[in-house]
Amino acid sequence: MLPLPSRGIPPDQVLARMRSAKERDVRWQEGRVWGLVYPVDDDLERLLREAYAMFITSNALNPMAFPSLKRFEAEVVAMTAHLLGGDEETVGNLTSGGTESLLMAVKTARDWARAHRPHITAPEMVLPASAHPAFEKASHYFGVRSVRVPVDDAFRADVEAMRAAITPNTILLVGSAPSYPQGVMDPIPELAAVAREHDLLFHVDACLGGFFLPFARRLGYPVPDFDFTVDGVTSLSADLHKFGYTTKGASVILYRNRELRRHQFFVYTDWSGGVYASPTMAGSRPGGTIAAAWAVMHYLGEEGYLRLAKQVMETTARLRAGIEGLDGLRILGDPVMGVLAIGSDALNVYEVADELTLRGWHLERQQFPPSLHLTVSPAHAAVADRFLDDLAAAVERARRPSLPKLANALLLNVARWMARLLPAEWMSRITARSAALAGVRGGETPQRSAAMYGMLATLPNRGDLHELVLDILDQFTSLEAQEKR
Ligand SMILES: Cc1ncc(COP(=O)(O)O)c(C=O)c1O
Repeated sequence: MLPLPSRGIPPDQVLARMRSAKERDVRWQEGRVWGLVYPVDDDLERLLREAYAMFITSNALNPMAFPSLKRFEAEVVAMTAHLLGGDEETVGNLTSGGTESLLMAVKTARDWARAHRPHITAPEMVLPASAHPAFEKASHYFGVRSVRVPVDDAFRADVEAMRAAITPNTILLVGSAPSYPQGVMDPIPELAAVAREHDLLFHVDACLGGFFLPFARRLGYPVPDFDFTVDGVTSLSADLHKFGYTTKGASVILYRNRELRRHQFFVYTDWSGGVYASPTMAGSRPGGTIAAAWAVMHYLGEEGYLRLAKQVMETTARLRAGIEGLDGLRILGDPVMGVLAIGSDALNVYEVADELTLRGWHLERQQFPPSLHLTVSPAHAAVADRFLDDLAAAVERARRPSLPKLANALLLNVARWMARLLPAEWMSRITARSAALAGVRGGETPQRSAAMYGMLATLPNRGDLHELVLDILDQFTSLEAQEKR
């Protein structure tokens, strides 16, 4: 429990406390984070701050009260539709991010099927195993069963396997452009053809690629078709807060036509507070994000997005060459843009990640197979060489025997041995305890996590891991967990 301060604190002191808290955050300004943020430069950041601040108190809930926001939103959506092969029929909305856009796509498909396929009472969607977990969230929230299909050897959606997974209950197919884990393109035209054959809706998750691939293509890079120019694509999501370079909280969900989008909307006409209507999940919507998105699109224009795409593609080429030149490491699949996974058949990549963490870099750890994730943003151009030097040193260290490594190996063997002997729920408790000791509390990436990742892999069933992660989530907002940090 924490009471409010009995008296207000002067603004300079409030801000000083916040600045001090921020000191422990990842150093994204120095390009140390390979994901989460998409920094460009100081000029762009200044513009975003001013645009956001100008509309900081505005609320897009009632567009009649804020016609400025209504116009900004309509223009942002129209420019996005134009960029992604839309025509006069294409419509869409701004959402708070990729997850909300995907939630809307699935909810719309469900309600469209209720109207057009009323005999389907247990709707299903078929998606590649690599599709973003937001689809599972949508499945969970909206009661559309998710049928995940293994990807092929190149980590791309397997068209024939997806076709085979279609049942009379299927209402929606999904493909990614590109997928998050390995940055590879699913075969969108082929999946669209399957969707057409079976009269299904087809969503393209271009949350990552929507504001990048059109520019990469115009620069001459080979980008397969993925947008509304492909017949059969019925909805598409593109995140402004990724390669659109705006502030967090902005994505666009687009539909082939108005009739389909109607199923996204929510209307309640019988409330004593008045007739209520809302296009997406949120009620009140921050004006700042809409204003910032409009500002960045006008500030950069085509020319600016092309310049940044060139910078990212060139940095990515340098990184790919550097990584593939290191003995023991490889890039998984054939990534289409600056989204890469580093894997290894010879080394424990989690140990490489630990070494990089010690050198001040922040990378996400992935599984199936173990790999490290990089999302390249414009700011990485300046640090790519330093990163490659540190990566080479990290690989060298991961190859050498060391005390922490021996301890990891020992822990892993003990865990494997215990997993065979102990009841599953004991194992969960022990793993949870070890994870907590290793520093997972509050979601913090521990400096040495290879042992923990190894142990998580030894859990006898994934349900235990589910429980463990629920415990960690539960701890996130607890004061106790903050104080321990
Ligand atoms: C392909 C893809 N889809 C959806 C999302 C979800 O986006 P958000 O985190 O903005 O909700 C992501 C996030 O990385 C993504 O990479």
